[in-house]
Formats: sequence, structure tokens, C-alpha cells
Amino acid sequence: MQSGQRPVKVFVTRRIPPEGMAVLNKAEMCKLDVWDSDEPVPRAELLKGVSGAHGLICLLSDRIDAEVLDAAGPSLKVISTMSVGFDHLAVDEIKKRGIRVGYTPDVLTDATAELTVALLLATARRLPEGVQEVKGGGWSTWKPLWLCGYGLSGSTVGVIGLGRIGMAIARRLIPFGVKRLLYTGRQVKPQAEELNGEYVSLDELLSQSDFVVVSCSLTPETQGLCDNSFFSKMKSTAVFINTSRGSVVNQEDLYEALSSGQIAAAGLDVTVPEPLPTDHPLLTLKNCMVLPHIGSATYTTRGIMSELTANNLLSGLTGASMPSELVL
Ligand code: NDP
Ligand code: DGY
Repeated sequence: MQSGQRPVKVFVTRRIPPEGMAVLNKAEMCKLDVWDSDEPVPRAELLKGVSGAHGLICLLSDRIDAEVLDAAGPSLKVISTMSVGFDHLAVDEIKKRGIRVGYTPDVLTDATAELTVALLLATARRLPEGVQEVKGGGWSTWKPLWLCGYGLSGSTVGVIGLGRIGMAIARRLIPFGVKRLLYTGRQVKPQAEELNGEYVSLDELLSQSDFVVVSCSLTPETQGLCDNSFFSKMKSTAVFINTSRGSVVNQEDLYEALSSGQIAAAGLDVTVPEPLPTDHPLLTLKNCMVLPHIGSATYTTRGIMSELTANNLLSGLTGASMPSELVL
């Protein structure tokens, strides 16, 4: 596909940061069709917009399945998602059609790890409750037993999925005085040695950790991993943190674990669905803190993500190697 020979049609499913748009515009090879909104493209518009496209820029909220690929037709050569997670992509269907995929690993690792640490500290030290007490007049005086939480010093932290982000979270937590770092996953991670990380079974991690941090990818194996049986193995004083994907957690079971005192508290950056309805039971709990999927949300990171997404797309369209190609 050569620019100048025929128009290279690219559908962009959302308004993305200007850094990425600048890259696309500068290349002058694409006829861009942008769903120019901060809100997700309706399914019907996605199916219409992708028709006859050579390239697709999408987000984690767009389900790219056989229906979308069929609507696009055989012209579609590249899908570039502005995310590191790719559970929204029907990878088998994409592979079958020989479509290349770009994604955004590494560039959001620091921002997401930082947010995870903030969420962990805020949950464990009950910051939202404290702020609420100040605003609501519940702060009467300094009280020895009031709003006590859990600290990292001397604790055991268990990371489920010690990948790029899991490792970056662990690196940030160790200086708080963490005594033991446990992790579990599909294999031993040599890089864990620098932190004296111990590879253990999931059961061992759950029974020994004061903080359980989930940073694995969403796969058929991790879907619903954090369920009743999972929470029942945790300490009643333990804090649960999830910044991976909402579907890793069975939210009914989490509600039960939090409301019954099976575990101490939970901090979530990801839920099912997103947004979580404002009347969701989890939002009635003082010991549950929910954020609106903002792990990578720094201005700098989002700018870099959009730039990388655009460069992945352009490389894919010209048949060059992509800065970050997902190996299917
Ligand atoms: P990586 O691929 O580097 O890490 C994913 C980890 O998940 C790997 O270590 C992998 O282990 C582990 N994993 C896979 N299957 C299992 C399993 N069955 N049990 C335990 N661990 C498993 O990805 P990143 O660290 O870059 O990103 C991780 C995820 O974080 C993304 O997929 C995305 O869903 C989420 N994310 C969320 C953000 C947010 O805004 N909240 C921002 C960015 C990412 P192994 O290596 O052994 O296979
Ligand atoms: C991702 O990239 O997968 C995150 O969830 C959003 O940055």
C-alpha cells in the first residue's frame, strides 16, 4: 500500500491526545476519519467507520471482534490500540486475517505503577474516609483509635503477575520497608532477584501477604481469578489492590469478603462494567476505594501513548517494523 497510489483510510475511534494526531497529520499518507468525541464510539458508528479502512486506531473500550473485522473487510491491515492491555481484541480472528497489531507497552509502566502505589497507600491508610470525616464534621479531636489502617513497613507484599508493571510496583514499594516480596505467575522471573522476590504458589501468596496486588493481564486463566475461594485464603487484615482489569475479580465475592470482614480493604482502578454504576454495592462500603481506570493518566504518558499508537499504525501501513508490535 503506497501513499499517493490510493487513499489510505484510517478510522480513529476517539479523540486522542494531540501528540498522536500530529504524527498522523505530518505523515500525510492517511485519510483520517476520527470519532471526534471523548465518549466511546457507538457500535453502529464503529462498524460504519471501519468499513473499507486500511488502519484502525482503537482504545481498550472498543471491542474489536469478528463483527468489526468483517465490517472492515479485507482492506484492514493494521490495528493500533492505545493501550498495553489487548483483551479487547479478538486476537485469534485478527491473526487469521493476517492483520498486524500495535500496542503501547513500557511507556505507561511508571505512571501505572505510581498510581497503584497511590491507590494502595490511600486504601490502606483510609484516606477517602479521612477526607470525608474532615468535610462532614466527623473530626472531633485526635483520637488514638480513630481511622487506623495498615502500613507497609515490615509487611509482606504479594504481587500477582510480576510483569513490566508488577515489577515497577514492587520496586516502588520496597523502599517503604517491605520485609518480604512474594510473587506468583506462570514462571519464575529472574529480574525479581534484584528485590529478593520469592516465587510462590498462589495459595502461599494469599495466606502470607499483608498486601495483595494484582497486575497480571486478563486472559481466560485470570478471568474471575479473585473469587470467594481466593479471598477466603487471605488474612483478615490484608488489603487487596487491583489495577489490571476488572474481570480478574468476581465483584460479588469481593463485596462479600469486604462486608463480612474476610479481608480488610480493597482498592480498585478497574471494574466491570466501566463506569461502575453509582448504585453498585461496592460503592456503599467504606473499606473499598474505586478509581475510574486512571492508571496511565498523566499528561505526559497519555501524550507518549498516543504518539506511539500513531507511529505503530504508520509503520504497519508502510510495511515497516513497528516500534511496539504485538506478536500474535
Ligand atoms: P506484562 O505482560 O508485562 O505483565 C503481565 C503479567 O501477567 C505477566 O507477568 C504474566 O506472567 C502475568 N500473568 C499472565 N497470566 C497469568 C496467570 N494466569 N497468573 C498470574 N499471572 C499471570 O504486562 P504489563 O505489566 O505491561 O501490563 C499488565 C496489565 O496491566 C495489562 O494487561 C493491563 O490489563 C493492565 N493495565 C492497567 C492499567 C490501568 O490503567 N489500570 C494501565 C496499564 C496496564 P508471565 O510473564 O509469567 O506470563
Ligand atoms: C492499558 O493500557 O491497558 C490501560 O488499561 C490504560 O492505559
